[in-house]
Amino acid sequence: MTDDLLAAAPAPGGELVVVLDFGAQYSQLIARKIREQGVYATLVPGDTPTQRLAAMSPRALVLSGGPASVYDEGAPTVTPDLFDLGVPILGICYGQQLMAHILGGKVEPGHQREYGRTALTIDAADGVFAGIESPTSCWMSHGDRVVEPPEGFRSLAHTAHSPVAAMGNAERRFYGVQFHPEVRHTPFGPRLLRNFLYDIAGCEGRWNPDVVLEEALPRIRERIGDGRVLCGVSGGVDSATAAVLVDRAVGDQLTCMFIDHGLLRQGEPESVIAFFTERFGSRFVAVDARERFLAALAGVVDPEEKRRIIGETFIRVFEEESSRLGDFQFIVHGTLQSDVIESGPRSAATIKTHHNVGGLPADMRLTNIEPFRHLFKDEVRRLGLRLGLPEEIVWRQPFPGPGLAIRIIGEVTAERLEILRAADAIVREELEAAGLEREISQSFACLPIIRSTGVMGDGRTYSYPIVIRAVETADFMTADWVRLPPEVLERISTRLVNEVSGVNRVLYDITSKPPATIEWE
Ligand code: XMP
Repeated sequence: MTDDLLAAAPAPGGELVVVLDFGAQYSQLIARKIREQGVYATLVPGDTPTQRLAAMSPRALVLSGGPASVYDEGAPTVTPDLFDLGVPILGICYGQQLMAHILGGKVEPGHQREYGRTALTIDAADGVFAGIESPTSCWMSHGDRVVEPPEGFRSLAHTAHSPVAAMGNAERRFYGVQFHPEVRHTPFGPRLLRNFLYDIAGCEGRWNPDVVLEEALPRIRERIGDGRVLCGVSGGVDSATAAVLVDRAVGDQLTCMFIDHGLLRQGEPESVIAFFTERFGSRFVAVDARERFLAALAGVVDPEEKRRIIGETFIRVFEEESSRLGDFQFIVHGTLQSDVIESGPRSAATIKTHHNVGGLPADMRLTNIEPFRHLFKDEVRRLGLRLGLPEEIVWRQPFPGPGLAIRIIGEVTAERLEILRAADAIVREELEAAGLEREISQSFACLPIIRSTGVMGDGRTYSYPIVIRAVETADFMTADWVRLPPEVLERISTRLVNEVSGVNRVLYDITSKPPATIEWE
């Protein structure tokens, strides 16, 4: 059972923007970029009935992009009464096409795909474009295009291939843009969103991390009452912030537990134990479950199966260990919005099950407290800083719950863990020495279980390769591979083959997300 603390919370000050999700990879980013402007935004499925939307009393609606064409059979759509709510609407990409299609404009299918950075000329520098200089550039990704705006609308901007790159009906407060204001390749995107939120929709900007604290603390106290709570900590920012937040809410009722599943990076268990022992004293318990996880993973190759086993073993160990400590009713998780969306049934495509969500067994006896289910990583980081967490925890690169198990592409064994741990430590050391650690959103080593021939000294080797992965991302939903300097790659490569026995080849992953994911599994 999940206690959806912040989901149930009303939007701060009643100021809510609802983003209707038509399946774009960027939908979450839209919500996040709106929140960065100080307005709480939440994502709902594109087919949410108009009545339900009306009941949420949104200040504005945003229609997201999506992969469909309005002419596709079964294309996601909204009922026309959505446009009678009297609420300002911003349509983005597919959202603009849908708006044009339903309100009587003309959408031309599959004309010529416009993709990437595109020059944009603004024809009406008011409304959403107020204060934005023309010409400028924007990020495009579409096949269909609006060629005639609906009655009452005028075209506000154009590009070489989009005669209606933006349109607006100032009276009804409806706007549409063909480009993506939410991605950073549209430099004026934040300003455009701000214009829409503040000037068009009349928002006041009541969302910030202090509001989260104000909202969350009384809710957590009320939910937990005088019950006892366990919090699993991993050393990452999500669980650490969750622990400190719940500690602030209920103090002594909270006990933190660290389960060493043997899938962490070199030196991590030691530093987690040191930090939490100092902070929580006897309310912190460390459990060594390395053997148990390794045994449970024996013979398992399928990534989803690994996640399921790790998630289940994790909770079982938690339950057993906690029952030794007395009676607990609640368990805290640092689950984020992005974990929920990627694992959720409503997402555009179930990409992978994050172990702290999909891996939970159905018969769990403890009630989940997930205070960050509706927060994005950067919001949790800001909150962590507010709560006084040290910078090294707040800015630590994210590390997946199933740990090194999903970076061994094949069966997990003690020997392979040892190889990967040593390789990963070298990658981290060299990136840090080159001053790149903080610039890179996530970097690591990965061990695919294939072997290739090499030669070392006078002898033939037949060993594993190590794949280096380094990506830059704002939201972990999309990511670019990092152009690492060749001399850094060279140093890493030399050290890996010389220092890690069992490795004779080094590869660098030059795939972005999409189409690849950040992790290999
Ligand atoms: P992907 O591989 O989906 O990763 O592009 C996006 C981000 O999520 C992390 N990740 C996980 N985190 N449990 C987690 O707690 C998981 O099962 C899991 N799988 C991926 C990944 O490291 C990246 O930061």
